[in-house]
Amino acid sequence: KYLRQDGLTDECKKLLTTLPKERSWIASHYMYNYQGLWLSQRLLGGVLACQQQFQAQGSDIILVTNPKSGTTWLKSLLFTLINRKKYPIFEQDHPLLVKNSHDLVPFLELKLYVDGQVPDFSSFTSPRLLATHMSFASLPKSIQDSRAKLVYLCRNPKDTFISMWHFINNIKLDHTDSKSIEECFDDFCKGVSPCGPFWDHVLDYWKESIEKPNKVFFLMYEEIKAQPKLHLKRLAEFLECQFSIEEEKCGVVDEILRMCSFDNLSNLEVNRNGKLSSGEENKAYFRKGEVGDWKTYFTKEMSEKLDHTIEQKFQGSELSF
Ligand code: A3P
Repeated sequence: KYLRQDGLTDECKKLLTTLPKERSWIASHYMYNYQGLWLSQRLLGGVLACQQQFQAQGSDIILVTNPKSGTTWLKSLLFTLINRKKYPIFEQDHPLLVKNSHDLVPFLELKLYVDGQVPDFSSFTSPRLLATHMSFASLPKSIQDSRAKLVYLCRNPKDTFISMWHFINNIKLDHTDSKSIEECFDDFCKGVSPCGPFWDHVLDYWKESIEKPNKVFFLMYEEIKAQPKLHLKRLAEFLECQFSIEEEKCGVVDEILRMCSFDNLSNLEVNRNGKLSSGEENKAYFRKGEVGDWKTYFTKEMSEKLDHTIEQKFQGSELSF
């Protein structure tokens, strides 16, 4: 069934010829619109395989994000939170000190099911901690049908865009063939961005979090930055692993936040010089980690244009940026 050479099945190759496509931000590549979601060819293969094969368990915890919304941070927080009995936070050999969180909390479509791989879940302990950039509509049915819990992290679209633009420029190998920031910005406003449209992605999970608060927990990057302790404790409650009074007294909450802070993680040897098991340099996932860095790059016109789009798209949703 699988054509291993490029990791795409015949089915996927056939589908590619029928989907709307646009030049991606790395202009020599294309993005394809599948079920309303803009995906690279490689990612489309991963999404299809995951949709067909992944069997969720009721105890699964799945982190969902738009790319560049702070996934690395929340993966670190979730891993540390969930595993704090198995890996006590104050011990020197904590896995997060020697591995990047992307290697501890794998993406479904980007890591486990990509390139025709058949994942082996036998080494995962319960609850399994997984991640995805898939839209709500594209999630494998078993995730929606099971009691698996979803944690959604959202970030201000202006900062998300700037973070994405830097990331793509950072990881691409060929510097001659990429779109300008203006072109990428126009694409983003039209909804043509990796795993975009940004607003559809956010709004679908936002609605689900309101309709099913025990199933989907909605977090904002800026809110965690502003009140980290409050949101970590809310997250622990949602995941039914509340901090005990004893843990609070011993400073476990503060220590998890310190351990997962941008300053701590970005200065670890593994994140300064190490690579992910998939080959990307870990340091690409740590740039500034600030709120409002878009102001350094946006012109007045860009800001007004995106404000207008945001207003239109999020009207009536109670979400504001
Ligand atoms: P910037 O490019 O604005 O600095 P993702 O993890 O989804 O790829 O998102 C990457 C963004 O999250 C980058 O934003 C990165 O610097 C920031 N980030 C990474 N680790 C972080 C942390 N521990 N705390 C806050 N932000 C973090």
